[in-house]
Amino acid sequence: MTPDVRPLVAGNWKMNGTRAALDQIKAMAAGVDGPLAEKVDALICPPATLLYVATALSTDSPLMIGAQDCHQNAAGAHTGDISADMIADCFGTHVIVGHSERRSDHAETDHLVRAKAQAAHAADLTAIICIGETAEERKSGQTLDILKRQLALSVPDGATAEDTVIAYEPVWAIGTGLTPTVEDIEAAHAFMRAELASRFQAAGRTMRILYGGSVKPGNARELMAVENVDGALVGGASLKASDFLAIYNAYEALTA
Ligand code: 13P
Repeated sequence: MTPDVRPLVAGNWKMNGTRAALDQIKAMAAGVDGPLAEKVDALICPPATLLYVATALSTDSPLMIGAQDCHQNAAGAHTGDISADMIADCFGTHVIVGHSERRSDHAETDHLVRAKAQAAHAADLTAIICIGETAEERKSGQTLDILKRQLALSVPDGATAEDTVIAYEPVWAIGTGLTPTVEDIEAAHAFMRAELASRFQAAGRTMRILYGGSVKPGNARELMAVENVDGALVGGASLKASDFLAIYNAYEALTA
């Protein structure tokens, strides 16, 4: 955790979820509607097909709804893409950009990720900018160099603690059940904090840095307690309300 920084527990449903999954959104909206919401934010990023209905189901709840990607342009001839404005129009508040699956499936570069974050900001959305090293990069001792480069190139100038969230997701930890050690996470987050503070001064000292990669109810409390870990970006365990809420509720003990 970081002093005076409000944690964010965010779920990324990836390419999962049809209308049948809306019951999970309803349960999450009800589950986060309690005293912990005064201290901890909760966000779910369902597929774009469910975005509008999901926001309608959570209007009376502190649960926020976001999207998983946006195009870098405001509008135009880009078949199959969605714009940041379209997300805002559906009452989405956040958009994930630069997830490692987009970087690998769609060859997204740091330069493109930065443009997408700028598009998100132009639509008054908070950009959740994902970074993280691959297994090979880690093995060859390049982790911090990769994080430095991705932060420098993917995060736009002028980013603020309000409009930007960093999500550190080691690629090898995504969907594998593997996580770095607490010491490794602490070192990576301390490094990112220092990089952000040197570039963005006060904004960099309070910009949220989430950890993502095999976060589960069983390890959430230990991982979220790490210094400079300001929440989680959860994949698989965010699909079920009971698991997502268990991760969110890990903050009951941490914020007591
Ligand atoms: P898992 O939690 O399934 O490992 O996925 C993490 C992730 O990629 C979230 O964006």
